[in-house]
Amino acid sequence: MKWSREQRMDMGTRTGRSWLRRGGVCLWALLAAGAAQAQEGRPWLDPAVPTAQRVELVLGRMTLDEKISLVHGNFGSVLRKTRPDDKRIGAGHVPGVPRLGIPDLYESDASLGVANGGTMRPGDVATALPASLATAASFDPAIAYEGGAMIGAEARAKGFNVLLAGGANLTRDPWNGRDFEYLGEDPWLTGVMAGAAIRGVQDNGIMSTLKHFALNAQESGRYVLDAQIAQGALRESDLLAFQIALERGQPDSVMCAYNKVNGDWSCENDWLLNQVLKRDWSFPGWVMSDWGGVHSTVKAALAGLDQESGQELDQEVYFGEPLQTAIGKGTVPEARLDDMVRRILGRLFHRGLVDRPAPDSPQPIDYAAHGLVARRAAEAGAVLLRNEGRVLPLSTALKRVVVIGGHADVGVLSGGGSSQVQAVSGSPLRMPIPNGPANLGFIKITYHGSSPLAAIKARLPGAQVTFLDGADPAAAAAAATGADAVLVFATQWRTEAIDLESLALPEGQDALIAAVAAANPRTTVVLETGGAVLMPWLGKVGAVLEAWYPGDQGGEAIARVLFGEVDAGGRLPLTFPAREEQAPRPQVPGLANVKAAAAEQAAKPRTPGATTVDITGGVKGFDVPYVEGADVGYRWYGRQGLKPLFPFGHGLSYSRFRHDGFTAQGGARPSVRFTVTNTGDRPGVDVPQVYAVVPGADGRPARRLVAFQRVELAPGQSVAVTLPIDPRLIARYDSGAAAWAVSGGPVPVVLARDAGDTGLTATLAMSALSLKP
Ligand code: BGC
Repeated sequence: MKWSREQRMDMGTRTGRSWLRRGGVCLWALLAAGAAQAQEGRPWLDPAVPTAQRVELVLGRMTLDEKISLVHGNFGSVLRKTRPDDKRIGAGHVPGVPRLGIPDLYESDASLGVANGGTMRPGDVATALPASLATAASFDPAIAYEGGAMIGAEARAKGFNVLLAGGANLTRDPWNGRDFEYLGEDPWLTGVMAGAAIRGVQDNGIMSTLKHFALNAQESGRYVLDAQIAQGALRESDLLAFQIALERGQPDSVMCAYNKVNGDWSCENDWLLNQVLKRDWSFPGWVMSDWGGVHSTVKAALAGLDQESGQELDQEVYFGEPLQTAIGKGTVPEARLDDMVRRILGRLFHRGLVDRPAPDSPQPIDYAAHGLVARRAAEAGAVLLRNEGRVLPLSTALKRVVVIGGHADVGVLSGGGSSQVQAVSGSPLRMPIPNGPANLGFIKITYHGSSPLAAIKARLPGAQVTFLDGADPAAAAAAATGADAVLVFATQWRTEAIDLESLALPEGQDALIAAVAAANPRTTVVLETGGAVLMPWLGKVGAVLEAWYPGDQGGEAIARVLFGEVDAGGRLPLTFPAREEQAPRPQVPGLANVKAAAAEQAAKPRTPGATTVDITGGVKGFDVPYVEGADVGYRWYGRQGLKPLFPFGHGLSYSRFRHDGFTAQGGARPSVRFTVTNTGDRPGVDVPQVYAVVPGADGRPARRLVAFQRVELAPGQSVAVTLPIDPRLIARYDSGAAAWAVSGGPVPVVLARDAGDTGLTATLAMSALSLKP
């Protein structure tokens, strides 16, 4: 008896199992017999054989061509030509080896939902999570896990088996176009949250990446720039975030970045790939390139790249014929090719994708349940930045409310680029980038169809709720005069491939807010931004709620927070500067090169029939020296003595909390203890944060987040919290000794509400430690 792929799949599902139970023992026997027959002559298909052995068995049967074909892949849309009926058009596709039972890799973006950028799968929708920054702002790994699990379930149901998720680059610059896809500026927060999200994805029996390795900290010139930083400083910052995410999430793959790091392209960087990732961190999975990130065959293969992705975006298919030639000549040993293949196969078997492949045709998805996952993440990550005179929460007894701007009548903003999801709630607005470059035509300014206005109106059935689009500040101010509450929705769109040139709200929104606030001090500004923004009107408004890009049910989530149905539980995962000049680089490096190339391209006549794509857009290379070293974000502000607009970790609650009993335990396994009490009159969320004070890169004391805990407490309720501290967070990376070094002695720690708060202090009596890299 032969079992179809679908039948085998079904056996893993709940329906499949109960069907088996009804059939009883006899059916089990039949099943075992069928499986045995299917495995005849193909012992690696027997799940009882240990994974390492299965890999060796199948590797031994593969031809050179088959091995080569597994280490380079197409841009996903190529599948449309070869298999027009296949619905699994995503970012990438790598053909498997059907004769040996090795499935194709169907790859989709990623962290915010099953992406459908450029609507490559017309009509296909997916649940859109809020921006990863919102997830980070929840300071709750359970929220990150739940989001990852939701996306992984949808990806699997749509037939994808690799999610290009796990964006973990640190926010070094406040204008990075992709800040919304990452998890903020702190290595511990980023590592913990990325690890949880990856675990969630992979618990569906599909694979996830961790990306972009490393230092892809800006979008301008990302294909050509050289990120420069001392190795030790990189270990203590961006790499530490990746290392923690890797340990906790165990991603099957790591995606190397576009940019160079200290002179070598990330995807052919021996130090990054061979030495740090594979040797020091014992990474068992495979390194895939970013799409268009490969520049060589021999150098990349020897440096540790295992798979070339989206090969149509490279200047040639480096891991196709040229790799075969290099193997023939011995410039790349065949053992290295075997290592690449072994790493890919190893993860396929380990993740169960050979035994329980993703389905060939789309399966039903519980979008209602998944929408709630997105809504919970948006609520948990909404940050109440200011609440003067307790303007919020809003009462349902209000009689006249004015809602202004941000297209709040139709939906909520999302970020642009490869992560773009076509939401279940719809896409009421899809607008081209004004004056956008021709090669980015597929990126659209997209709103998800969850209207904050509708959600607000639903809570105020007896009230007069007026909406104005905000185009006319004087009319908005006139409407706001005398209203019980005014809500201005302000937006800042960010996208992959383009950085912001200014942190000011665009399109006259600052003037609009100033005019409205002058007319009515009970004005709340709801921000839908993909990162930091300047607020020249801050002192004039009553409240500011940072809702980020709030996802598929963003309108509902915002209304629930505004009306206090849930607390505003988020805290800032990155610093909001008071002025652009406060950042380590007051301007986007290389912007002049980007603009010069764009002007040159615009003037050039298009070559008809040109076959190769130059994704660099002709931008000339440049260096970005990361002068702040490991002192990213709040550590930079602390060491420079700068007062930002809002510090990392800031966020208010509708309730009040007391911290006491703060004690610290040193030695080799440091930890802290304290008690949190809700002293207010409503349930609320607190996020106590523990910072160690250790010398920064310039020797001056700088804070590092070493522990945090989100707690939800009823009025009057107390909780005792004990948190372990990872000693690497207070160590220096000693490049000479190739180890983390803690020089024993007292280390001050602060229990605070944000990175700038004085808080309570204690001292860790640390043992001298030397820890492996
Ligand atoms: C992005 C990656 C993405 C890939 C595939 C690249 O341009 O940098 O994050 O996974 O495209 O869409």
